[in-house]
Amino acid sequence: MELPFDGAISAYAQNEAPADIRNAITRADKKDILDPSFPHSERLNRKAYEAELRAIQIELVKAQYWVKATNARVAIVFEGRDAAGKGGTIKRFRENLNPRGARVVALSKPTEAEQTQWYFQRYVDHLPSGGEMVFYDRSWYNRGVVEKVFGFCDDDQRARFFHQVSPFEETLVNDGIYLFKFWMNVGRAEQLRRFLSRERDPLKQWKLSWIDVEGLKRWGPYTYAIRETLSRSHTPAAPWTIVRSDDKRRARLNAMRTVLHGLEYDGKDEKAIGQIDPSVCGGPEIWN
Ligand code: ADP
Ligand code: AMP
Ligand code: MLT
Repeated sequence: MELPFDGAISAYAQNEAPADIRNAITRADKKDILDPSFPHSERLNRKAYEAELRAIQIELVKAQYWVKATNARVAIVFEGRDAAGKGGTIKRFRENLNPRGARVVALSKPTEAEQTQWYFQRYVDHLPSGGEMVFYDRSWYNRGVVEKVFGFCDDDQRARFFHQVSPFEETLVNDGIYLFKFWMNVGRAEQLRRFLSRERDPLKQWKLSWIDVEGLKRWGPYTYAIRETLSRSHTPAAPWTIVRSDDKRRARLNAMRTVLHGLEYDGKDEKAIGQIDPSVCGGPEIWN
């Protein structure tokens, strides 16, 4: 079988990637965190991760009972560069939940009909009903970032998006929806390392797309679009939570903690949830 991007990532790594990025990957051990500014040098060890994950997943089960019992509506948005860890985090959130009531929304690029609609319309279709938690793997924030970087929208459309996004989110929150917005922040070397591993692994190749391959060369434009998006859509009603995700394990645990702390479910065990690591998970000031 011919693979769509056979060798494109390794060719980029060898011939085009900045030398410091390439060297960071070559020298690193599997457990090393590549981003030199990351507050820990090694990823969380497996034992600690599994113990904390278990305690937190038990809390998520309790939270889901509460969501169902009270008809609460929870919408959780996951954003971030390609390979930031959105899908893996969502998977751990849902691992022990009743899938009926814990839905993933991962929309394809808009169809022709959708392109004629109000930009938010197709996302609104998937908002939670009472008793549901909805996990958006990418969201309306496509217009802030990937659509800007690849020219999939024009400047007027993007300006309209920024005009509408905060009132839109405030409407959801005022209506009683619990809205969480995560920006998963992966470093440049770690992103490339994950792409290389996707290229090698037949079980992960489906995650690679033309956008990923081409996006490697557009790190700078992404950074610019992300900075603008975070600064224009971080509001009291719908604040961003940045999750530094060079260490997937710490990223997942801290994202889950953020949601659990934000819900008022019965029997909440603060000790089981554990403390959010403020160097890994916080407001836009920890994004870089
Ligand atoms: P993912 O990272 O979600 O697996 P991609 O990296 O291929 O998928 O694409 C990133 C995002 O860009 C997706 O949400 C996709 O729907 C969106 N996208 C791709 N092509 C277009 C397009 N022509 N117009 C608008 N959005 C697009
Ligand atoms: P390609 O690999 O160039 O065929 O593109 C992959 C996908 O991205 C296709 O589904 C195209 O429709 C889409 N695409 C590529 N370039 C653009 C563009 N400039 N504007 C909108 N869509 C694009
Ligand atoms: C991720 O792992 O960050 C995403 O879910 C998949 C991707 O876009 O690479």
